Amino acid sequence: MNVLILGSGGREHTMAWKLSQSPKLKKLVVAPGNAGTANIAKNMPIGVNDFEAIKKIALSENIDLVVVGPEDPLVNGIHDFFLNDTELRNIPVIGPQKAAAQLEGSKEFAKEFMMRHAIPTAAYQSFTASNLEEGYAFLETLKPPYVLKADGLAAGKGVVILEDLNDAKAELRSMLVDAKFGGASATVVIEEFLDGIELSVFVLTDGNGYKVLPTAKDYKRIGEGDKGLNTGGMGAISPVPFADKVFMDKIHTEVVKPTVEGLKKDNLPYKGFIFIGLIKVGDEPKVIEYNVRMGDPETEVVIPRIKNDFLEVLQAVAHENLDEVVIEIDQRTATTVMLVSGGYPEAYEKGKEIKGFNEVQDSLVFHAGTQFKEGKVVTTGGRVMAITSFGVDFREALEKSYQNIEKIRFDKMNYRKDIGFDL
Ligand code: AMP
Ligand code: GLY
Repeated sequence: MNVLILGSGGREHTMAWKLSQSPKLKKLVVAPGNAGTANIAKNMPIGVNDFEAIKKIALSENIDLVVVGPEDPLVNGIHDFFLNDTELRNIPVIGPQKAAAQLEGSKEFAKEFMMRHAIPTAAYQSFTASNLEEGYAFLETLKPPYVLKADGLAAGKGVVILEDLNDAKAELRSMLVDAKFGGASATVVIEEFLDGIELSVFVLTDGNGYKVLPTAKDYKRIGEGDKGLNTGGMGAISPVPFADKVFMDKIHTEVVKPTVEGLKKDNLPYKGFIFIGLIKVGDEPKVIEYNVRMGDPETEVVIPRIKNDFLEVLQAVAHENLDEVVIEIDQRTATTVMLVSGGYPEAYEKGKEIKGFNEVQDSLVFHAGTQFKEGKVVTTGGRVMAITSFGVDFREALEKSYQNIEKIRFDKMNYRKDIGFDL
């Protein structure tokens, strides 16, 4: 089989690494890819939202299956584009159609979906510029901190949590009236603050059957002790130690099952990954968000724990016989630590040569913002590479990642030294 992966991060390198182990794989193309995928696949330099360019690749490379990494092309309808094109129609796409991708593309849509299907989540109301005053009044009924969410995609920056009521009102105004996040904040969801510990659950569905993949917890803040600005994710651990059987059973009955059944009831075709962000409040799971793709860096710990031939699993999704697959999970813990460019998530420099990663032993190196330049591997992004290791527990696994990180260097390299500190 010839497979095309769309994307260029650590998530896509991990998927490429896993797929390249399948005896069924003939050719792997990653668009646009990074220096890590270049070693195991053919990189093709196009944008993930350039559907016409994707079509050309799908046809010229005789692609049999497309795996969509990031959310943007899904929310923009890449799956529908394939279905509506006579030449592409028979090429399966892993990732939901546009209608279901709204679960990530619109916070209001996701909240309404959860209400309709009685899925536990924070109480909320949504507002536009036309009822700003009602938004202020709703804020006054809440206790701090105040959670404001831009409805649309805002590159992971659309959630603002504030302690002070006046700041919250000013933020609401800035989102709605001054279009702080452009069209993405034309509608704002204000919700109750949930106090608890976060974890993520990943589900793979073919629209009927589904499999619950390993849980993971990521560390989003740039600074140690979960301080500072939000990033795409600085590290992750799988499984999450506090997600015991009782809690997982609860997540299964109260969240996973009604989500997959809700998609069916609402006539929202879905073949792909569902990433459910949860907060454990007391003993109760509450959904804070849906993503319609795998997480990054969660993929770097979840996928390596899956023992199956990953291409077979994805084919089962495409052919709607996922129920026949038994997912086998490595019982060890996997951890990953993300190496980032100094300054990230604010301004940072690119083009720094990365050295030493070939000396890594007993860990996996997944590239994110890297590319080949004049025979060297250089940085091209804020998140540069993720170092994944296995261990009997997360401490043992992390120790390996941290030991290997000692061998890697690039100018202004930064990483968190406290992944798992709260567990
Ligand atoms: P989201 O983009 O929806 O994942 O939100 C980003 C982050 O904001 C989450 O990972 C949580 O840490 C936090 N968050 C979102 N909603 C809530 C909430 N209702 N209560 C507390 N924290 C929240
Ligand atoms: N690590 C969070 C995400 O992928 O959205």
